[in-house]
Amino acid sequence: MRPRDFFPLGKAYGEAFCNREKEAEKLLGNVQNGKHTFLVAPRRYGKSSLCEKVLEKSTLPWTKVDFHMAITESDVESFIVGGANDLIGKSISQVDKLSSVIKTVVKKLKPKFDISAGPLRLELEISSGSSPAENVAEALLLIDRLLIEKNKQAVIHFDEFQEVGNITEGRGVEGAIRHAAQETKNLAIIFSGSNPHLIKNMFENESRPLYKLCKKLPLPRISEEHYNHHLNKASLAMWGKELPASCFERIMTLTERHPYYVNALCDEVWSETQTVPTVDHVNACWEYVIEGERSDLIKDFLNLSDNQRKVLIQIANFGGENIYANSSSKQMDVPVSSLRSAIEAVLEKDFIEKIGTHYSLVVPVYRWLLRHQQE
Ligand SMILES: Nc1ncnc2c1ncn2[C@@H]1O[C@H](COP(=O)(O)OP(=O)(O)OP(=O)(O)O)[C@@H](O)[C@H]1O
Ligand SMILES: [Mg+2]
Repeated sequence: MRPRDFFPLGKAYGEAFCNREKEAEKLLGNVQNGKHTFLVAPRRYGKSSLCEKVLEKSTLPWTKVDFHMAITESDVESFIVGGANDLIGKSISQVDKLSSVIKTVVKKLKPKFDISAGPLRLELEISSGSSPAENVAEALLLIDRLLIEKNKQAVIHFDEFQEVGNITEGRGVEGAIRHAAQETKNLAIIFSGSNPHLIKNMFENESRPLYKLCKKLPLPRISEEHYNHHLNKASLAMWGKELPASCFERIMTLTERHPYYVNALCDEVWSETQTVPTVDHVNACWEYVIEGERSDLIKDFLNLSDNQRKVLIQIANFGGENIYANSSSKQMDVPVSSLRSAIEAVLEKDFIEKIGTHYSLVVPVYRWLLRHQQE
């Protein structure tokens, strides 16, 4: 592995993957026991990386359905039916002796049998006479029945699942997924998504159909101790020496251990310096990371209302401990009566997160872009 490959901006694989042992063990236990999981974390915390690592390790057949391109209910339907076809192919390649099971379960979808590739293979097709909800439930229940027949297990990973909630708003397909998920025995489902507030709402709001169906697995930031080990390994591989403690501390302070920003900064540091870096190198590389992100982040910021922007500026400059205090409200020039809805809105949009009683900015770069005084 080249040292720079330790810090990918996309999914983390192999040696680029730092720790997450507890979470990986939990997720592995869930999928091996056929339990559904709801993986919750803000954007770019490592949900997809964790799922792929665990699914590879499980050696179970699995498929991923990514909903980020879904716009309509029929997109959701065709993505799920496509995922079901893929998973059936991977887990039950031969369906020769299963036609009676298929006939009993499949009432809405059209099963097609492909004999061109040797053993008989099944391909489900959507029929226009039935609703997306019926087709989705049937596809998921069929996989489970086939797995039971074959005494096998498999996993389906629904990524960017908040999009399903956005599209269906608790009706139709979402209800069908719940219905199927309650019945399955050998098919485990992982639900993950990138807007924690919204996706939480889908699973924890009693009026929504996926309420209480899953084991919740929160994914916090990676600890300093684990990053210390990880960064030292990369430093030894690159420069033959451990990373100076001052540099490590600076990296932790600047990135606030946000996994994407740790990688963005370290990728820069590791590629820019010929020998072990100094704190000045780290600072210069951080400026470069900020410059790269500035225009996108400012654009997102400008899409917020005045009060929502004031909340972010307040947290960037004074922290998020006493955000509801009268003094903060005065300082922000936001009436107490409007403050709650402004805070709720930026929570929902994933700009800030709440840990205990503390509110903080999700993206560490905002602290630099929104502060009044230079550090
Ligand atoms: N365990 C890990 N160790 C080191 N880096 C990681 C780890 N997990 C994720 N990362 C890094 O964090 C960033 C985000 O990872 P990933 O795409 O898996 O997150 P995500 O939560 O699925 O993001 P999104 O919300 O965009 O779907 C990437 O730069 C990735 O390399
Ligand atoms: Mg992802």
